[in-house]
Amino acid sequence: MRFRWKLLGSLLCLSGLLLLLYRLLSTAQPPPGSTSSQGSPPLIITPNISGSPAAGYFRALHDHMTRRRDKKKEEENWTKVRAPQQKPKTPTPEEWMHLAVVACGDRVEETVTMLKSAVLFSFKKIKFHIFAEDSLKSDFQKKLEKWPRQISRKIEYKIYPITFPVGNAQEWKKLFKPCAAQRLFLPMLLRYVDSLLYVDTDVLFLRPLDHIWAFLRRFNDTQLAAMAPEHEISKIGWYSRFARHPFYGTAGVNSGVMLMNLTRIRNQQFKNNMIPGGLTWEEMLHPLYQKYKNYITWGDQDLLNIIFYFNPEMLYVFPCHWNYRPDHCMYGSNCKAAEEEGVSILHGNRGVYRDEKQPAFKAFYEVIRDYPFDDNLFQSMYFPLQSKFLESVHTLCGRIPQVFLKQIEKTMKMMYERRVVVHIRSHV
Ligand SMILES: *[C@@H]1O[C@H](CO)[C@@H](O)[C@H](O)[C@H]1NC(C)=O
Ligand SMILES: *[C@@H]1O[C@H](CO)[C@@H](O)[C@H](O)[C@H]1NC(C)=O
Ligand SMILES: *[C@@H]1O[C@H](CO)[C@@H](O)[C@H](O)[C@H]1NC(C)=O
Ligand SMILES: *[C@@H]1O[C@H](CO)[C@@H](O)[C@H](O)[C@H]1NC(C)=O
Repeated sequence: MRFRWKLLGSLLCLSGLLLLLYRLLSTAQPPPGSTSSQGSPPLIITPNISGSPAAGYFRALHDHMTRRRDKKKEEENWTKVRAPQQKPKTPTPEEWMHLAVVACGDRVEETVTMLKSAVLFSFKKIKFHIFAEDSLKSDFQKKLEKWPRQISRKIEYKIYPITFPVGNAQEWKKLFKPCAAQRLFLPMLLRYVDSLLYVDTDVLFLRPLDHIWAFLRRFNDTQLAAMAPEHEISKIGWYSRFARHPFYGTAGVNSGVMLMNLTRIRNQQFKNNMIPGGLTWEEMLHPLYQKYKNYITWGDQDLLNIIFYFNPEMLYVFPCHWNYRPDHCMYGSNCKAAEEEGVSILHGNRGVYRDEKQPAFKAFYEVIRDYPFDDNLFQSMYFPLQSKFLESVHTLCGRIPQVFLKQIEKTMKMMYERRVVVHIRSHV
């Protein structure tokens, strides 16, 4: 008996020791999912970082980076010396990504915040196609011209008036919230553009735009557009319960993030239930609208759903983390892909950046809007985001920080590593 107690005692001791060892080791490991390549510094990110060992690490890293920045002159010199040896810098069309947005009414700040998130994390250069009411044009220009040079050199922008090339302009304008039907006409309005990412003004990129742009190359021969499902669970989705018109798949698609190969859209004949031989996109829009206008609720998104109901082989459906909305968490987490990957593109529809209903979404909006372009993403964006996010834990969406923060953590880490590599190269 005594012997057994002794044995039990020593076993308990041993397991306690192992637990301690495990704890010690695990605080030194990067979080699961973060890829730390060989030779790069391990970056550790925990939900509340301010008191953790990682905070000290980041502070040290930050100080190091600041010291390096003082040597910037040298770097400029390096660039100047090397510049003539590089290939002439006229980018071929493939090197540009194209991003389109339609802004009407009180949406300038929201749109500029979206554009900011796009340019902050991206590798390739971006052309912004901004469709806006004339009264907003100067406001856009003023805000974009304020961006620092190291950011603005990555972009070009053009502001277009709202125009409807076919049908009754007033009718189209009324179709959805102001001006949203404009996106249906992008293939005709941007005839010189091959491919385009369209997003709503309330979208925020949490990783490089290059990553969603890469889906264009994954299209098979018949696909010409990509969208995410409107809902993950068709039983509780809107279309499956209420729609009085045909729609794509079992739950419809959401048009807030829409990748398009415009060349293909312009050249394709689309099947429909009006003309047996098919119609081009341009020919189809107005008759389709006339046919369904009394049955549609969400305007142009409904028309897109009808089009891809008749032409399902033309649509590439990407996972929900590329268009993550309050619907994915406000009734409990239902976007499995985001649980694995983290949120890649946040879509704060339902006006959540402007009210207090979903503070988890609003936290992202505010920190990106307020980021001062100071080259210090961790200090000025990620830490404020974490503390703001913690204030939302009482909501269903705020209860899953790992889903919301996972991808942006990766992005921040990547941005740091990218800069470290640049610095190391420039000091060899
Ligand atoms: C984070 O942790 C530190 C120390 O563990 C604590 O003092 C601080 O209040 C925490 N911050 C938040 C926002 O919970
Ligand atoms: C460029 O480098 C040279 C030699 O290292 C140095 O003399 C010069 O001052 C540098 N120019 C600038 C603008 O820093
Ligand atoms: C779009 O489709 C056209 C025609 O199939 C193709 O030539 C072009 O490379 C595609 N664009 C992209 C970015 O894949
Ligand atoms: C392309 O993919 C879609 C969706 O998976 C499919 O319906 C279609 O048949 C495919 N097209 C070709 C040419 O393989």
